[in-house]
Amino acid sequence: ALVVRHRMRCSGRWARAMAIIREFEENCGTPIGKLRQVADAMAVEMHAGLASEGGSKLKMLISYVDNLPSGDEKGLFYALDLGGTNFRVIRVLLGGKEAGVVKQEFEEVSIPPHLMTGSSEALFDYIAAALAKFVATEGEGLHSPGRQRELGFTFSFPVRQTSIATGNLIKWTKGFSIEDAVGQDVVGELTKAMERIGLDMRVAALVNDTIGTLAGGRYLNPDVIAAVILGTGTNAAYVERAHAIPKWHGLLPKSGEMVINMEWGNFRSSHLPLTKYDQDLDVESLNPGEQIFEKIISGMYLGEIVRRVLLKMAEEAAFFGDVVPLKLKIPFILRTPHMSAMHHDASSDLRVVGSKLKDILEIPNTSLKMRKAIVELCDIVATRGARLSAAGIVGILKKLGRDAVKDGEKQKSVVAMDGGLYEHYSEFSTCMESTLKELLGEEVSDNIVIEQSNDGSGIGAALLAASHSQYLEVEES
Ligand code: GLC
Repeated sequence: ALVVRHRMRCSGRWARAMAIIREFEENCGTPIGKLRQVADAMAVEMHAGLASEGGSKLKMLISYVDNLPSGDEKGLFYALDLGGTNFRVIRVLLGGKEAGVVKQEFEEVSIPPHLMTGSSEALFDYIAAALAKFVATEGEGLHSPGRQRELGFTFSFPVRQTSIATGNLIKWTKGFSIEDAVGQDVVGELTKAMERIGLDMRVAALVNDTIGTLAGGRYLNPDVIAAVILGTGTNAAYVERAHAIPKWHGLLPKSGEMVINMEWGNFRSSHLPLTKYDQDLDVESLNPGEQIFEKIISGMYLGEIVRRVLLKMAEEAAFFGDVVPLKLKIPFILRTPHMSAMHHDASSDLRVVGSKLKDILEIPNTSLKMRKAIVELCDIVATRGARLSAAGIVGILKKLGRDAVKDGEKQKSVVAMDGGLYEHYSEFSTCMESTLKELLGEEVSDNIVIEQSNDGSGIGAALLAASHSQYLEVEES
């Protein structure tokens, strides 16, 4: 009788746990009709954000980049890429049309977590010091004496630019929260830090990572019209016709174009499939009410959503047994790379899932059935994110009138793509691409290419520094 009662209790628990997954799955649903509504809403918000400042949740920020790299860029340039848990310093030797990128070196430095929520001065001092160290490794003869070194600064947060090389931080995203930097000119902050340690370098261009990726992509392929980042955060930029930007009151650029940083991470729509787990995650985040699209798509959050559902299963259905595993209660302990490793586990006994649960959450014994359920959970979360990011891309194509074949004319549209989520989470990227096909239909999707860029944003920033160099006019005349 005891055994029977035990079995009944277990099967009751199992049923409750599965009911939690099924309900979550239902609320995460992204049927094609919903995705079309999301794409339409994205295009509508793009219009609204371009019409007036504050006209939409989409900030549609003007980048001051009205000319993308031509290939003629020449000389030695530095770039600094800040926006995730690491930052990168880059040195690029550009050789013009014939030679292209002659030499490229970089170094990656991780940012101590306390600096992400400390003071502006501490963060920029740390960055400037790493940059100075990197400059010291330059080697003889690369740099023309008497010339100030120049830098493209990729700063991957929303910035209201006032020129190509100045701009004020609107707010932090992705786990950064440094109060005294908000509203400040980030180039000024970096320049002051460089001066404090005696590094003589001029910031020639301030760009978002999407803009850098777009510039780097265009340098290699003239059909690049947009860039998307799927990494710690998510965002997109694209080339807009200047006269389609009513809120732009400056001179019309000669090219007739302006690159727009959408800040699509802040997109929000009643059509987004949001669950109570997402709402709780948002409320408890550093930026409640903001970056809702980002919070259901990007690498910073996917693993955390999985953790939240697992915790619920542990608490309300004793999924892991009578005691709730302590580690499972720690926010952000289950990171998206762990989730990706579990999701991709191809072994018949799901031993990668088993070892992640053991190593990260200190849950020693799990049955194959439980591990299968966890893989399924990863799949639900990743699928929703991937399908929504495809809908976002379709929104941009719609805005540009590139989502349909017009008059039998086939124009190629290339989207430059960067970010660790896309690069390393292949279930995610595969699903994103197949959803894009599903949304666009065969004929159109034949002309839409997603091109993975490898650190395009660093090279892109160096290219934009080159095309905005203080020495350019002197050289040209
Ligand atoms: C966040 C930032 C945005 C950046 C994106 C990808 O959404 O706000 O500026 O482009 O992350 O790094």
